[in-house]
Amino acid sequence: MTPLTPVITEHWDTPDLFTIEGYRRKGGYRALPKALAMDPDAIIGMVKDTGLRGRGGAGFPTGLKWSFVPQNDGKPHYLVVNADESEPGACKDVPIMIANPHALLEGVIIASYAIRASHAFIYIRGEVPQSIRRVAAAIREAEQAGLIGDNISGSGFSLSVTVHSGAGAYICGEETALLNSLEGLRGQPRLKPPFPATHGLYASPTVVNNVETIANVPWIINNGVDWFRQFGTEKSPGFKVFAVSGHVVRPGIYEAPLGITMGELLEYAGGVIGGGPVKFWLPGGSSVPMLTADHLDTPLTYEAMVDAGSMLGTGTPMIFNNTISVVKAVTRWLEFYKHESCGKCTPCREGTYWITGLLDKFEAGHGTDPDMDLLNEVCGHIMGRSFCALGDAAATPYPAAVKYFRDEFQTATSVPVDESFPPAAGYVFEGVAAR
Ligand SMILES: Cc1cc2nc3c(=O)[nH]c(=O)nc-3n(C[C@H](O)[C@H](O)[C@H](O)COP(=O)(O)O)c2cc1C
Ligand code: SF4
Repeated sequence: MTPLTPVITEHWDTPDLFTIEGYRRKGGYRALPKALAMDPDAIIGMVKDTGLRGRGGAGFPTGLKWSFVPQNDGKPHYLVVNADESEPGACKDVPIMIANPHALLEGVIIASYAIRASHAFIYIRGEVPQSIRRVAAAIREAEQAGLIGDNISGSGFSLSVTVHSGAGAYICGEETALLNSLEGLRGQPRLKPPFPATHGLYASPTVVNNVETIANVPWIINNGVDWFRQFGTEKSPGFKVFAVSGHVVRPGIYEAPLGITMGELLEYAGGVIGGGPVKFWLPGGSSVPMLTADHLDTPLTYEAMVDAGSMLGTGTPMIFNNTISVVKAVTRWLEFYKHESCGKCTPCREGTYWITGLLDKFEAGHGTDPDMDLLNEVCGHIMGRSFCALGDAAATPYPAAVKYFRDEFQTATSVPVDESFPPAAGYVFEGVAAR
């Protein structure tokens, strides 16, 4: 059994860890003076060498992203921490910010120094005021301690940190929509390229990183590249804050090396509620394709998850037992995507509407085999054709579900058609079926 490796979560049982004294007592803020004594490029090189991959979902190499920021360009640089965590099933950044906000802040100061940013923003999901309060209080404490502000610890490096509260839009977690939102514009994605590394906040070089990504940084500075690489695999080095939810006996946070299997995490989480089998599970939020009990022994790495036909995503597995209808689960996720679609591009704006309506038909027992083909077709028109990855995410759950649970959709079709089915829905979907 792969042992758990509490690093970021190691001292979460310390009641005052969220205060600067509590964090310092557990070794906090020891990486900062080391980092400030290093050349910024050496820090970027070190993070590159660890192979740390972004924990926000896409797994992009963090050091490489930092190295894209042009130097000596005369423009202000910004670090933006993406703390918008809004995806169904994802709940790891909020606990990090509540339990140990100073670890995030220490990472923010070091990362800002490395990319030569003098202003950092932390964009936090507005629905979780506790994390906003904790991070804001930690910033005040760090300012009073001279760790944020002018000429930090006499290093000549100055930094301001601003907390910004989101207003409840999932799309504002998409990095360019987040930047628009920060600028006071409508939270809709920007065309890429140019990427934020060169044209980000206020058209200046900007690094956008996830909370967990940045929280890794102090430990990397303290312990070095080889230490970090001893965990995980060649392509997925390090450890991960896995947030396990769903039908498990002990849902919660399990920090483990990348490469642990879902079966092992499940054991740590006390197994499936009621002792039954796993029906299906998703490795990292509702945006990644579902897998089944056959995949419980697959390592939770970026590469193995892709080979298995899914993605590691945010590394927040959701487990479902036999009490859950796949049709209902997929329909609920699509209702979310339909609601959160920002409306900027046609495939996603219209497609999420059509997929949801068709799925409603299945849930009501009216779905037909041609409807299944149509669903696949509509998903195909969204995947790879939408302006941002929210559209791709919306086109993901159905094809994955029907691959493993076609019978369940067909069973739904066998329910006799109820002629009193709501006329509005009937009107819309008869139109689609007739196409
Ligand atoms: C619709 C949508 C929502 C997203 N939400 C988040 C989020 O809440 N937090 C996050 O870190 N990344 C989110 N991302 C990914 C970001 O665009 C970006 O890739 C990430 O913040 C980069 O950080 P990383 O390199 O540290 O992973 C989202 C992407 C999309 C398309
Ligand atoms: S894919 Fe969806 S969320 Fe993204 S820009 Fe298009 S409409 Fe907006």
